[in-house]
Amino acid sequence: MSEPLRIAIAGLGTVGAGVFQLLAKNGALIARRGGRPLEVVAVAARDRKKDRGVDLAKVAWFDDAAKMAAEADCEVVVELIGGAEGMARRVCETALAKGRHVVTANKALLAHHGTALAASAEAKGLTIAYEAAVAGGIPIIKSIREGLAANRLSRVYGILNGTCNYILTQMRKTGRAFGDVLADAQKLGYAEADPSFDVDGVDAAHKLAILAGVAFGTKIDFAAVHVEGIRRVGAQDIQFARELGFRIKLLGIAELGEGGLMQRVHPCMVPLETPIAHVEDVYNAVVAEGDFVGRVVAEGRGAGAGPTASAVVADIVDIAHGRRPMTFQLPAGELATPKALGIDARRGGYYIRLDVIDRPGVIADVTAALRDEAVSLASMLQRGRAPDERVPVVLVTHDTQEAAMRRALDRIARLGAVLEAPVVIRIESL
Ligand SMILES: NC(=O)c1ccc[n+]([C@@H]2O[C@H](COP(=O)([O-])OP(=O)(O)OC[C@H]3O[C@@H](n4cnc5c(N)ncnc54)[C@H](OP(=O)(O)O)[C@@H]3O)[C@@H](O)[C@H]2O)c1
Repeated sequence: MSEPLRIAIAGLGTVGAGVFQLLAKNGALIARRGGRPLEVVAVAARDRKKDRGVDLAKVAWFDDAAKMAAEADCEVVVELIGGAEGMARRVCETALAKGRHVVTANKALLAHHGTALAASAEAKGLTIAYEAAVAGGIPIIKSIREGLAANRLSRVYGILNGTCNYILTQMRKTGRAFGDVLADAQKLGYAEADPSFDVDGVDAAHKLAILAGVAFGTKIDFAAVHVEGIRRVGAQDIQFARELGFRIKLLGIAELGEGGLMQRVHPCMVPLETPIAHVEDVYNAVVAEGDFVGRVVAEGRGAGAGPTASAVVADIVDIAHGRRPMTFQLPAGELATPKALGIDARRGGYYIRLDVIDRPGVIADVTAALRDEAVSLASMLQRGRAPDERVPVVLVTHDTQEAAMRRALDRIARLGAVLEAPVVIRIESL
């Protein structure tokens, strides 16, 4: 067998230790598949004394991960620190500058600096591989870039954050409120102590920006992603969704059309008959639509030590084999910059929940605001009557333009009988 592929790993947390464990268990099998053994020769993390459950006896330790990226005797640097800036970025830039391939699971870094990193890598004939950065264990980057290379893709979308999917699934199964389910998810380790990156949609937006780049051959444009999280989804909305034949999912959706590229992350009402409605708990799913292949659906675990390590090591095996795919489907210098379409250009149905004081004339005022913007109602639900008390009213619209919907909602929100900002969930016919 050929010489081992020498690897340095920066970051030995959940994923870094997972990679170590995976290589320890499946190393011999992977060596046969990769044509070369994979050998970890150096590691870097902050705390040398921390017990990580892995044997570091034969590995060089670096306190400074950037120094390791520059000086370790290796061909590949695996960055598993995290964050769009700081040490993670330095490690990747240093490794490429020193002629080493980079493998990373870092979606924040790729979403912000992916195009520039791809250009640096390609200029030197190097790889920057990032399968683990999108949908964890699902091999979606390879599937889109290599498996669907013959197609023009028009849309790619998915459930890209396991924490949100877990919370929404538990809310549906238990009828409990968002805050209570989030607290449980934190106890179980499914949500971080600071959950904002996940529940406010930022993590899904990072992944969507990368997916759009690889699906459409466009420059990564994270700033253009419209982002909303799941904090305002109430137990009542889950209940109404059930009655209307939907499930609520946080989706990331990227669509490329004649007018430009729209990228958005927000809670969606998804018809029960679509496959993605049944992807539950911490599972992720990605759907790609191509002109020749039609619809392709991939489902799996989007996070955790094992699934993420599986994706990281697959990238390392590619490097061992000498496979050098383009970072984002086209050379970095040829990536397109389509017009970025804002959410105002979306056309579709809307679910709107209003909290109103039950008194005569309220519904007439609401429907007048909709009529004046040419928004047509498909249905309206009101549970019970409670004169002069707070009641929820749910409106479901036919397809309409987001901008018109927004204008109508601004007017509705200002009505004296409407007590809180309306909850708006877009209906996606997928
Ligand atoms: N966890 C997942 O399921 C998952 C899934 C997909 C992608 N990812 C991505 O994978 C990456 C790693 O995530 P993780 O969950 O493994 O994170 P983690 O458990 O927090 O581990 C981070 C590691 O980086 C080390 N580190 C932090 N700052 C450092 C610095 N300045 N210099 C050197 N080492 C430093 C830490 O060292 P100490 O241990 O000494 O503190 C720790 O070992 C992130 O980009 C994340 O987004 C994670």
